[in-house]
Amino acid sequence: MKIADLVSKYEENFWDFSGVKKEGIHKIGKYPATMVAPMQYELLSILVSNNKSFRTLLDPFMGSGTSLIEGHNLDLNVFGIDINPYAVLLGEVKTHRYNEDTLYEMNERITKKLYSSNYVYEIHDFPNIHKWFREDIIKSLSKIRAIILEEENRWIRKFLWVCLSEVIYSHSNDRTSTFKLHIKPEKEIAAIRNNCLEVFEKTIKNNQEFLIKDTNPIATIYSGDSSKVLKKFADESIDIICTSPPYGDNATTVTYGQASILFLKWINFKDLLGDQNLISNYSKIDSVSLGGNSSKNDLPNIKIAQKYISRLSESKRSKVIKFISDYYDVTAQLARILSVGGYLLFTVGNRRVDGIVQPLDKITKEIFLEMGLKEEKIFTRNILSKKMPSKISNVKNKGAVNSMNKETILIFKKEK
Ligand SMILES: C[S@@+](CC[C@H](N)C(=O)[O-])C[C@H]1O[C@@H](n2cnc3c(N)ncnc32)[C@H](O)[C@@H]1O
Repeated sequence: MKIADLVSKYEENFWDFSGVKKEGIHKIGKYPATMVAPMQYELLSILVSNNKSFRTLLDPFMGSGTSLIEGHNLDLNVFGIDINPYAVLLGEVKTHRYNEDTLYEMNERITKKLYSSNYVYEIHDFPNIHKWFREDIIKSLSKIRAIILEEENRWIRKFLWVCLSEVIYSHSNDRTSTFKLHIKPEKEIAAIRNNCLEVFEKTIKNNQEFLIKDTNPIATIYSGDSSKVLKKFADESIDIICTSPPYGDNATTVTYGQASILFLKWINFKDLLGDQNLISNYSKIDSVSLGGNSSKNDLPNIKIAQKYISRLSESKRSKVIKFISDYYDVTAQLARILSVGGYLLFTVGNRRVDGIVQPLDKITKEIFLEMGLKEEKIFTRNILSKKMPSKISNVKNKGAVNSMNKETILIFKKEK
């Protein structure tokens, strides 16, 4: 049966997944703009049940690893790439097979040390730490950090860093209401309750329930820029590419880097994959992400993109050209590594630049067609539950602007 017919069998608002909350392993860690897991699962099931020979799935912008988990749930070998070392850590922890006994013993050790009054530890420091954390919170987080560092098993440490990131999220001076770092008002900072140790203990207990313990997923996670990492993949080696790419350059859209930099400042870099320079300043990750610091000034021959760019003011053009140009290059690599008969499953959003909607759905479609891929199905869904709901603040001279409330799903096939 055709994929378009299989997808059309569902009622239109089925894909909204109204009221669906994060469940199980998807609840671990804190990452912005994650995919709706059950939606990806349903779409992947359609693809996999239609072709039983599919073995591999790649997400070149894996973020928190939603598609990898769902691919794994469908018995696929999964590959993930992200430029953000925190996303890579999440992907690693969520696809690693943990041993029940090892976790149990870790719990006992950690709890003992957490509440020991004569436990000696070093106070952690980094530039601007006092801006983002209250003095007593720094002490508590430093104690947790020292305890994690004493763990011998690298995979246990990786898991514990993820748990610590959740404590950091709820105890820092960052407002967390947007993905950009913004300091809370003084009154709110004073009101933060320092229960870091208790929250950490509880987070470990809750999160470890969700870790994979039975099967051994074959997951390969890469840290780095997709446009470079994808060169390692052989032609026609991947059956399904499932992703939600960045919607524009990360410095002005969803700031994945800024949203995780406070975590990365506390995690020991020896337990992370990636370039340590990335955490040298608070916005570096976003500036090297797709459309960030590439030197490209040529817009690929994509008519919809060209028409869109021509409507933008001069000052906004170069960033958008860089993004679309990088996006085009990555897509060309994806078309190369996709197996014949394989599918691309993209979830994209149309953000606004200069008040003008950037038609990333139509741009993506035109790029895919130019790569010789065949359109199977394109449809939109309403984004009903979103952390950054319908407004993003802080757009210079424009006040609050509407963010996206719809996203487009594009399913394309490689036929030859
Ligand atoms: C929309 S998010 C993906 C969210 C993911 N689907 C999830 O469920 O968590 C896009 C991701 O692309 C990553 N990214 C941006 N530019 C990149 C690049 N050049 N190479 C690899 N990853 C990149 C960002 O760090 C971000 O995690």
